[in-house]
Amino acid sequence: MPHLIAPSVLAADFANIQRDFEMINASEADWFHIDVMDGVFVPNISFGMPVISAMKKHAKKPLDVHLMIVNPDQYIGTFKQIGADILTVHYEACTHLHRTLQAIKAEGMKAGVALNPHTPVNLLEDIIQDIDLVCIMSVNPGFGGQSFIEHTYNKVVELKKMISRKEASTLIEIDGGVNADNAKLLLDAGADVLVAGSFVFKSENPKATIQKLKSI
Ligand code: DX5
Ligand code: ZN
Repeated sequence: MPHLIAPSVLAADFANIQRDFEMINASEADWFHIDVMDGVFVPNISFGMPVISAMKKHAKKPLDVHLMIVNPDQYIGTFKQIGADILTVHYEACTHLHRTLQAIKAEGMKAGVALNPHTPVNLLEDIIQDIDLVCIMSVNPGFGGQSFIEHTYNKVVELKKMISRKEASTLIEIDGGVNADNAKLLLDAGADVLVAGSFVFKSENPKATIQKLKSI
């Protein structure tokens, strides 16, 4: 499968969200990556349901919603209603992860699990077959524009081995500090989906930058 590119709209211009969404629609991007932060799980607050509903109206590609919130279970139905296609919860925020993943799938969404940089991938050993996507955080969640943590490559290799050993079809997504310097190494290590915020939106020509990431 060719790799997927998911621009992170956290780095978009919120005063011109329609324009930026149309750019992504017209680009080679595959998904919209949408970061939801609650000010509790992470030390930042991004945006919530009304903003995502407005974004959905302009999106012609799937919404990959990354929840950086505590108690995600109570909002699963709401995120489905406002248009999430993939819903990712944090391993560190879920006491009953298996139940949470089943609830996401029961709503007809793909179920993702994100791992903070300190969380080892081997903790997914007994649940990997139930996960559609693992989001390996390559920065500490909460902010765009941070530097990539190099240890991420080892985690991708280890997770890829686990996925093939368990004969799972889980996708590996990398989120945080992705750019032209690390993208190829990440793909070679086994990544399937690259999230990129600042690298896309702060570039001179975001659409061309997306194409650059897609054509690696
Ligand atoms: C970080 C978010 C990321 C972020 C990536 O908490 O989950 O999706 O927007 O932004 P960059 O690519 O700028 O690191
Ligand atoms: Zn994210």
